[in-house]
Amino acid sequence: MLARRSLALLRAGATRVRCSQSSVGAVRHHGGPHVDKDAPTVSITFVQPDDSLKEVQARVGESLLQVAHQNDIDLEGACEGVCACSTCHLILPKELYDTLEEPSEDEEDMLDMAFGLTDTSRLGCQITVTENMEGIRLQMPKATRNFYVGKCSCCLAAPHSRFERG
Ligand code: FES
Repeated sequence: MLARRSLALLRAGATRVRCSQSSVGAVRHHGGPHVDKDAPTVSITFVQPDDSLKEVQARVGESLLQVAHQNDIDLEGACEGVCACSTCHLILPKELYDTLEEPSEDEEDMLDMAFGLTDTSRLGCQITVTENMEGIRLQMPKATRNFYVGKCSCCLAAPHSRFERG
């Protein structure tokens, strides 16, 4: 279910929502954190919707959404990392999921709208790369559901659901 605050924003036609960055407890700004180019890296593999693998070097401190975008991985991120959609949905390995802080209430609200939700689902824009992520595999869902409170990128109408990849 949508939180009361999110519903109020929807009714007001809001275009941006911010939420807590669950992994470090700070406010997540539009686009994700700035990380130095010489920050340490870890190897992460994305299992893409067609089950192909893409192994990338991820800078510690970046969000998983940023890592995907920098490596031409088709993880949409319709709201650009402000926790107002569910198009950056990723399924984490349980051993990683268990090490993370609980998702914020806002993230849970968005996850409720994600296609193919699992017990280890999280939003890629809300997870920060850490050194203990070396070698992990992240599963991308077969489809996404776009319910972004801003204008939809496919038709500029707002808000509505849209399925992709299916
Ligand atoms: S990009 Fe919209 S919630 Fe992550």
